Amino acid sequence: MRHLVTLRDVTTEEIQRIFALTADLKAKLQKGIREPILPGRVMALMFEKPSLRTRVSFEAGMAHMGGSSMMLGDDVGFGKRERVDDFSRVLSEYIDVLVMRCKQHSSVVEVAKYASCSVINGLTDSSHPCQALADLYTIDCHVKSLEQAKLAWVGDANNVARSLALACGKLGVHFAVATPPGYEFKEDFLADLNKECPGMNLTLTNDPTEAVRGASAVYTDVWASMGQEKEQQQRRKDFGPYQVNGKLMSAAPNEALFMHCLPARRGEEVTDEVMDSPNSVIVEQAGNRMHVQKGILAWLLAAQH
Ligand code: CP
Ligand code: NVA
Repeated sequence: MRHLVTLRDVTTEEIQRIFALTADLKAKLQKGIREPILPGRVMALMFEKPSLRTRVSFEAGMAHMGGSSMMLGDDVGFGKRERVDDFSRVLSEYIDVLVMRCKQHSSVVEVAKYASCSVINGLTDSSHPCQALADLYTIDCHVKSLEQAKLAWVGDANNVARSLALACGKLGVHFAVATPPGYEFKEDFLADLNKECPGMNLTLTNDPTEAVRGASAVYTDVWASMGQEKEQQQRRKDFGPYQVNGKLMSAAPNEALFMHCLPARRGEEVTDEVMDSPNSVIVEQAGNRMHVQKGILAWLLAAQH
């Protein structure tokens, strides 16, 4: 059974296939065409953290394709009522695909291990693969070629940054990461990235200006992710010089896009001026979550038969 737990689960060619499906489905939707290509297919979503984009975009996308979806609540008792292997095997009897947003990445890995339905990671503490695919698709729509593009990440080397690193590595994009000292990627992640994407163009720095120089897109995210609320105060101090504002954007090329996975804390990691600038593609990026996830569902569910 194919899953999308991290981007290690897909090859470059498979990502390109997902992007081709996405482009087709998006073009059709823009003409008002919603082909029921997944009739009777059932998706369940189980979220341990809040969500606007991921939940609604998956549900809307599945509806467009003629399938159905259900949000599982606390009543299913994940991790409480029964062992995870029993939970996973039983749920697989009913549904075709499960989207999970979990506090711990290991929960998604564990469910996928026993599932005979597809499992999609809708964000964990360590990765956000659907976000990264939608982001790279968005960049692809704006640049001449991904192989010549540079994505600058300014902020915390968090779940979104890790998935973007893998996505950039697989698609030949130069990824430049500027973090405050102490917030860099961990060594074990870098070793794994190097194994998965040998020879990728990766710049690691503590200097945001260096990262954004020559960038096709500048990307940031909240300084404290969900679950890190207690570190908020400390992080506000540590990340202050890493705010994406007009001054930092002026060190990037004039045409550089501004990106954010959202939700944003306006006035912290990014100013209103940048969020609302003509270069900002935040809404298109959020819209592409749905289009790319439709591509992922169409690809994954076709692969089941
Ligand atoms: N970007 C993103 O995953 O948004 P939600 O947390 O609203 O799903
Ligand atoms: N890094 C953020 C992303 C939210 C979509 C978080 O995990 O809270």
